[in-house]
Amino acid sequence: MIGNTGVSPNGPRAMMTHPTTDAPSPVGTNEPLVSISGVSKLFSRRGRTVEALRDVDLTIGDGEFVSLLGPSGCGKSTLLRIIGGLQTADRGTVSVGGGDVQHARAAKQYGLVPQAPALLPWKTVADNVRFLTSLHRRRGSEQVMNDAEIQELLVTVGLAGFERSYPHELSGGMQQRVSLVRAFAVGAPILLMDEPFAALDEITRADMRYLLLDLWSRTHATVVFVTHSVTEAAILSDRVVVMAARPGRVAAERTIELPRPRTPEMEDEPNFHEQVRRLRADLREHHA
Ligand SMILES: Nc1ncnc2c1ncn2[C@@H]1O[C@H](COP(=O)(O)OP(=O)(O)OP(=O)(O)O)[C@@H](O)[C@H]1O
Ligand SMILES: [Mg+2]
Repeated sequence: MIGNTGVSPNGPRAMMTHPTTDAPSPVGTNEPLVSISGVSKLFSRRGRTVEALRDVDLTIGDGEFVSLLGPSGCGKSTLLRIIGGLQTADRGTVSVGGGDVQHARAAKQYGLVPQAPALLPWKTVADNVRFLTSLHRRRGSEQVMNDAEIQELLVTVGLAGFERSYPHELSGGMQQRVSLVRAFAVGAPILLMDEPFAALDEITRADMRYLLLDLWSRTHATVVFVTHSVTEAAILSDRVVVMAARPGRVAAERTIELPRPRTPEMEDEPNFHEQVRRLRADLREHHA
């Protein structure tokens, strides 16, 4: 079981030492890391009240890759922000490794990958990554990567030779790759990703999925990934939480029955199409 710091009692996850397979542990054996119980959230604006979340119950296992899938406005970002302690629930509880979210936040348990890369424009690629890792290191996080490991990750995502470039010299896809490297380099055990590939073209986006799985396989982090895309959710996830709107709620949960490592070839297989079909049916059934 995870202690109340959220750090595994077996010590920091060994960075960069795992073989490149995106198979941290078999689905269903992961111990609970994030437990969400009865979470509700209302927003009131100009006399109108929106029920962003109603009675959400969800458990996320240590090392699990979980996607939140649903239509616009169903509360995906709100739920992600509540898990990360960036927003508070009106009702219900969220625990992380047995402690509360603010404790997890203070202990640097979270890494965030937003929709836009949010790099510092005056820092080079390498310095953008180092800046965040140095902050984490100063606050005593043990899992931060060193310069050699960061360099290895930059090479992995195809950014060799761009270490000294500035963000404006990179394409959107390259910037988002820096953003991914930065998130993994700080060694946070929980990565919260809010539609990180939404702004990318379809081909770049497809490549980014496998890059993400490659990085994930090296760290064994727990990932909560928000997406509108059924195929993206199916290829990436161990489990997909299908959400519905008005009120925002969990409509269904599906374990993705595909082996790891996931490969682009799998996307042509009948079994993959079956996973996608099931998710689409869930979405349709609960569409308001
Ligand atoms: N700060 C806020 N103030 C008022 N209403 C909000 C606020 N944040 C979210 N909402 C409302 O709560 C509901 C859920 O919003 P949320 O951003 O979580 O949805 P989402 O599923 O992430 O949507 P999208 O896919 O478009 O990003 C929406 O109806 C939204 O308008
Ligand atoms: Mg959102």
